[in-house]
Amino acid sequence: MRHLISPLDFSVDETEELLLLAEDIAKDPKKYSKVCEGKKIATLFYEPSTRTRLSFEAAMLNLGGSVLGFSSADSSSAAKGESVADTIRVISSYADIAAMRHPKEGAPYVASLHSTIPVINAGDGGHQHPTQTLTDLLTIHSLKGRLDHLTIGLCGDLKFGRTVHSLINALVRYTGIKFVLISPEELRVPTYIRKDVLEDKNVPYKEVESLEEAMPELDILYMTRVQKERFFNEEDYIRLKDRYILDAAKMHFAGPEMLVLHPLPRVNEISVEVDKDPRAVYFKQAQFGVYARMALIMTLLELSL
Ligand code: CP
Repeated sequence: MRHLISPLDFSVDETEELLLLAEDIAKDPKKYSKVCEGKKIATLFYEPSTRTRLSFEAAMLNLGGSVLGFSSADSSSAAKGESVADTIRVISSYADIAAMRHPKEGAPYVASLHSTIPVINAGDGGHQHPTQTLTDLLTIHSLKGRLDHLTIGLCGDLKFGRTVHSLINALVRYTGIKFVLISPEELRVPTYIRKDVLEDKNVPYKEVESLEEAMPELDILYMTRVQKERFFNEEDYIRLKDRYILDAAKMHFAGPEMLVLHPLPRVNEISVEVDKDPRAVYFKQAQFGVYARMALIMTLLELSL
């Protein structure tokens, strides 16, 4: 039995296989509509979510399965003090697979140690978000046709943004990847990502503050929200939250093929006027999230057509 806790739990070859499956699903989702008949997914969300929880549920329903779960810690027995370990032991007898989001880093990993069903990390604190990474890889692979030889700008809250940490971990495994890390000093990527991931693997990167100066060389611009819920102090959040706002004027600095991704939700960091730019693909990206999760459920449950 396999879990997905980190984006590195799948090898490059396994990731490629999963993305090809997701692309086939995207072409003809109906073909897969009975693959999970009789199967159930439990969505155990101790933190708010729109896309991740509902795309997991849509994915299982599209595959012919069923869903159960809770959408906040307050509506579960966590509010009475139940541990993640006890919860997953019980859920293992209710469902065939579980997706867990939790504010504590490592909580889905702890759950996986006590589970008899596959556990998927649906986001743990500021740590990792591997299914967002599969979504991001699928978006890039489908729209650019490759995952190598790309210059990727990551902009915004690179300190607390778990989608950024997971995406860097996943992309350093491909050749010809360069990163431009665009953030204010206070929101730079954590040292462990810089030293243990980028420098350890000799992946070229630079850290800059100007979005406009970085844009001309980018193939992908990955915008992120400043993660209000991870700040200890409201004043810092207010000072930093609008540091980067991508608008139509700034899009003139980008090349014609540069794609704008964002894991969403957005707050102010992308003006709505950018939505109509054909290079803005963040809503397509959210759609790809359903196909990526359909492919993941099938892979972890070892199901095929
Ligand atoms: N991208 C993402 O994780 O969105 P939600 O927080 O809405 O699940």
